[in-house]
Amino acid sequence: MPIDFDKSVIREQTCSVKFDARRAVFGKEDVIPLWVADMDFPAPEAVTRALETRARHPIYGYTLFPDSLYQSMIDWYRDRHGWTIEREWILMAPGVVPSLHAACLAFSEPGEGVIIQPPVYPPFFSSVKRTDRTVIENPLDCVDGRYTMDFEHLEQCAARDDARLLVLCSPHNPVGRVWTDEELRAVLDIARRHGLVVLSDEIHCDLVYPDKPTHCMLARLAEAGDALVTAVAPSKTFNMPGLGLSALVIPDPDRRRAMKEVFDSLHMGQCNPFSITGFEAGYRHGGPWLDELMPYLQQNRDYVADFLAQRIPEVTMTVPEGTYLLWLDCRGLTPDDKALKQFFVQDAGIGMNPGATFGDNGRGFMRMNIGCPRPLLEQALERIEAAVIRRFR
Ligand SMILES: Cc1ncc(COP(=O)(O)O)c(C=O)c1O
Repeated sequence: MPIDFDKSVIREQTCSVKFDARRAVFGKEDVIPLWVADMDFPAPEAVTRALETRARHPIYGYTLFPDSLYQSMIDWYRDRHGWTIEREWILMAPGVVPSLHAACLAFSEPGEGVIIQPPVYPPFFSSVKRTDRTVIENPLDCVDGRYTMDFEHLEQCAARDDARLLVLCSPHNPVGRVWTDEELRAVLDIARRHGLVVLSDEIHCDLVYPDKPTHCMLARLAEAGDALVTAVAPSKTFNMPGLGLSALVIPDPDRRRAMKEVFDSLHMGQCNPFSITGFEAGYRHGGPWLDELMPYLQQNRDYVADFLAQRIPEVTMTVPEGTYLLWLDCRGLTPDDKALKQFFVQDAGIGMNPGATFGDNGRGFMRMNIGCPRPLLEQALERIEAAVIRRFR
C-alpha cells in the first residue's frame, strides 16, 4: 500500500515547537505553520515500531553506541551515496548544531574567523558569534534566481590571516542548491590552499528531488590530508529531528581528536536510548519510505511553483534541487521586512521564517516549509492569494 502523505496528523499538544510555539512566536495560534524544518508526516513505520519495542523494555538507563549503529550508517552511505566510511572516523554527536559550536571551539581561537555563505541557516551565524569567533561572510551570488558560490570572494575570505574554518551547507538551506562536483572541488581547493578546516553540514543530503542532479558528498572528492569534517544525521531524512542524534565523519585523526576533546569537555558522549533506536531503524529500514516521500515533496514543490506563477506573480521562487524548504522572493509585495512578516502573519495567517534571519541578503524573502500534506499547502496558498488581493491589488 502506498503511503498516504495527504493524511493530516494532529500535532498540537505534542510539545512540537512548530505547532505549540505559534502563539509565542507569531502572537497567535491560528497561523498555518510552515516554518521550523520538520515535516508533518509520520516517520517510517519501522522507526515507530522499533521505538515501541524499545519502550516496552522499561529500563531507560545510560547508553553506549553499539557497533550495529555505526554499521547502519556505514551501509546507508555506501549504498545511497557511494561513500565509504571507516568505523573509526565516526564521532556521534547530539545534533548538527552542537557540532557547529564544537567545531568553532576545536578549530579556532576566540576572535578568529569562520567563513559562512549567507543566506544560510541562522545557527551558522549564532554558533560563531556565541563562541566568540568572527563571522566572515561570503554571500552567495544570485543570477536570474539561481544561487552560486562567489569563488573569487571566497578565496579572499580564505586568504585572511584570521580565517580558520569554512562551514559549508550542502545541500544549501535555504536556497535549495545541490552543489555540483565542480563547485565542491573548488571549495576543497580553496580550503587546501589556505589551510582551512571545512565543516560540511550535509544533514539534507538525502532530500534531493528525483528530477534533479544527485548529491555528491564532499568527502567523496577529498584527498588524504584534507581537513574535512562531515556532519550527517537521519533526522531530516526520516523526520525524527526531535530524537536528537547525529554523526560526524572525520578521517583525519588529529581533527577527530580535537572535536572529541570539545565534546568530552562538555560531557556530550551520551544520548538517550530512543535516539539510538530511531537512528539505526531509520538507516536500516527507512529507504523505501524516503523513496515514496521525495516524489510527493516534488509534487508539493511544483504545486507551489505553479500556483505562484499563475496566481501570485508578486512572489517568485527558484525551483530547489534539494530540501523541503522553498526560498520565496517576496520583494514584489513590499521591500519592508517588518511589513512582510506582519502581512504573512496577520493578513494571510501563515507562519514562515523571515528571510532576514538568514543574513542581510535574505531581506525581502520568506522561507516556506513544504513538508506537509498537500491539502494544507493548498489552503495556505489560497490564504496568501486572498490576502495579496486584499492588501496589494
Ligand atoms: C543545514 C542544517 N543544519 C542543521 C540543522 C539542525 O540540526 P540538528 O537538529 O541536528 O541540530 C538544520 C535544521 O533545520 C539545518 O537545516
